[in-house]
Amino acid sequence: QSENPDMEARLRDIREGIDHGRFPAYVFNDQEIFDLEQEKLFGQAWTFLAHESEIPKPGDYVTRYIGNNNLIVARDEHGEIHANLNMCRHRGNMMCKSEMGNASHFRCSYHGWVYKNSGELIGVPYLAEGYEGKLKRKDWGLVKARIDTYEGLVFGTFNEDASSLEDYLGGFQFYLDLYLKQGPNGSEVHGPPDHWITETDWKIAAENFAGDGYHTPVAHQFGFNLGYFPSSGATHSQGWAASIPGKGHGIGLGHTPGFTPFAGFPDALTAEIKKSLTPDQVEVFSNTRTAVGTVFPNLSFLMQPFSLIPGETGVRFVTMRLYHPIGPGKCEMYSWCLVPKDASDEYKEAAYQAYTLTFAQAGTFEQDDLENWARLTRMAKSSAAKGIEFPYLMGMETERDEDFRGPGHVVKPYVNDSNFRNLWGRWADYLLGEA
Ligand code: FES
Ligand code: FE
Repeated sequence: QSENPDMEARLRDIREGIDHGRFPAYVFNDQEIFDLEQEKLFGQAWTFLAHESEIPKPGDYVTRYIGNNNLIVARDEHGEIHANLNMCRHRGNMMCKSEMGNASHFRCSYHGWVYKNSGELIGVPYLAEGYEGKLKRKDWGLVKARIDTYEGLVFGTFNEDASSLEDYLGGFQFYLDLYLKQGPNGSEVHGPPDHWITETDWKIAAENFAGDGYHTPVAHQFGFNLGYFPSSGATHSQGWAASIPGKGHGIGLGHTPGFTPFAGFPDALTAEIKKSLTPDQVEVFSNTRTAVGTVFPNLSFLMQPFSLIPGETGVRFVTMRLYHPIGPGKCEMYSWCLVPKDASDEYKEAAYQAYTLTFAQAGTFEQDDLENWARLTRMAKSSAAKGIEFPYLMGMETERDEDFRGPGHVVKPYVNDSNFRNLWGRWADYLLGEA
């Protein structure tokens, strides 16, 4: 039960509106909603922390977030990964100021408490003289988050009651494998993430990457005009929108008629990728040119072929991105390039180049999106926005495509609001405490 009956009633309205294809504008830039999200959503759900390949060696660490909590995600000397709150247990100083590095221990810069990278407290200055035996080091380790992994993705939560990550993903793994099983040894990050702050609400980005094929021919029109997309405005709506009902995850699978299955991967790698996927996945992905999906709430992926030479297939690059909310209408974007571990260095470099030109911080496609997202965020804060709702009416009556061999609610065409209704339904369920 909410302590704020007014908010509770509003959320019930929102929840009902979603099922009827409506969603309010103001939630995309609102302090009260932001505060509630921190507590009820990011305090409860699984949040993406890091890719295992970012911390391959013992001692490697990165600092990341669960909601507004900063954590040290580190690999200990036995190779096990830990996610600990980056806050000294003595008086709360921030332990690690660096975003990444390698360390066996962390020493607090205030009074000098020392913790292993696993979080155990091992050093307390004047332990014998000052504490008279009252302080037991084993009771004062760093606060641990629960972690769980899928195919190299490390997620964390402080919610002891959260169900397993497997259950949380709820079948979306079928689609995630496209990005993560790029060959027998899977995928790895190519370098550290770009990250930058943007005046964009995290939800706008999460929705866009949950399969907004609708914006592409308009917002990214130059891509069509220059020949970077083999499809056209006329064929672009083809493909599928797939979502996992009740879980919030969704993916858009863009299909381009005449497109060669798996084009953009080197031939030898394609054969290996097919072996690491199930026949159903091979069938689904053979028909997919662009795949753009969101793991609820704020982790997204995009894969598509891109060539520096318009009209050519080029390479398939993958970007993985996280929208870390830092205020209402404001988020910090983290963006990685994922490459097949088994690909040649030349291929990895080419994929990284394609990623950099399109979806890195200064990528042309990224800029097309951000300009729209920032304006949309600004409009959401206006007083008139309080009473305005948006239509989420596409595909309300569409039945599942029974010929499609992937799980979830899958509809044609790709231009559809079905994934977004599912996404915002899950969001409202969390805020209502009913997820
Ligand atoms: Fe860290 Fe005192 S705050 S040792
Ligand atoms: Fe876009």
